[in-house]
Amino acid sequence: MNFVKENNELIENPLNQMNERLEKVLTKIIADHNSHAKWINLLSYLEFIGSRKIFKTQKNGFISEELLKHASDEARHALILKQMIGKITENENFQYYDSKYMINAYSGFRYIQNLDSMVKKQLLKISAFKEDFSYMCYVYVSYVIEVRANWLYAIYSGLLSKTGSNVNVSAIISDEVRHLDDMTCEIGKLDPNSESNIVYFLNKEGLLFERFLCNLEKSLN
Ligand SMILES: [Fe+2]
Ligand SMILES: [Fe+2]
Repeated sequence: MNFVKENNELIENPLNQMNERLEKVLTKIIADHNSHAKWINLLSYLEFIGSRKIFKTQKNGFISEELLKHASDEARHALILKQMIGKITENENFQYYDSKYMINAYSGFRYIQNLDSMVKKQLLKISAFKEDFSYMCYVYVSYVIEVRANWLYAIYSGLLSKTGSNVNVSAIISDEVRHLDDMTCEIGKLDPNSESNIVYFLNKEGLLFERFLCNLEKSLN
């Protein structure tokens, strides 16, 4: 999708605008072991928050096998990334999610929190999915995060191969592709207005991610 609609005007998809910027930032990060370890610890932290959030969105009686699988995949990604740090540095301070040992931890945390609130607010505003409200919040938040994760991990993985890095994220990517397929399928099944809702959420998420990227760029200058 090269263009998306906002107020009936076609604007360039924010995902396309940010490719070069993310590549530039990640190239700098990968070149420095300490920054790279901090970046991986941030990714691990975000995966961990994602897993925790999935559990929190549903009441106990509504936690299905699919939901358990999704949340445990995200927790496993957090672990894979945490273990990857040991291949980059022997510094033991990276064993916890201490903000001193992550790049822009607060900005990453705000990105997810704001995304969550934005989806809830919009679904409340359009008064959709009264009975399935919390499930659809989970589905839409997951969908936009999975779109972003697929894009981000693909760029990151390309740079890791290009620089001959001793870490790789291919195991995570194959899960994220499956998660995105699952969420796309759920949206198609449950939301008759999926097209306009997807456009709205992707545009808003693009703005939130751009803020995070901007902070990342500033912190490396
Ligand atoms: Fe993940
Ligand atoms: Fe995922």
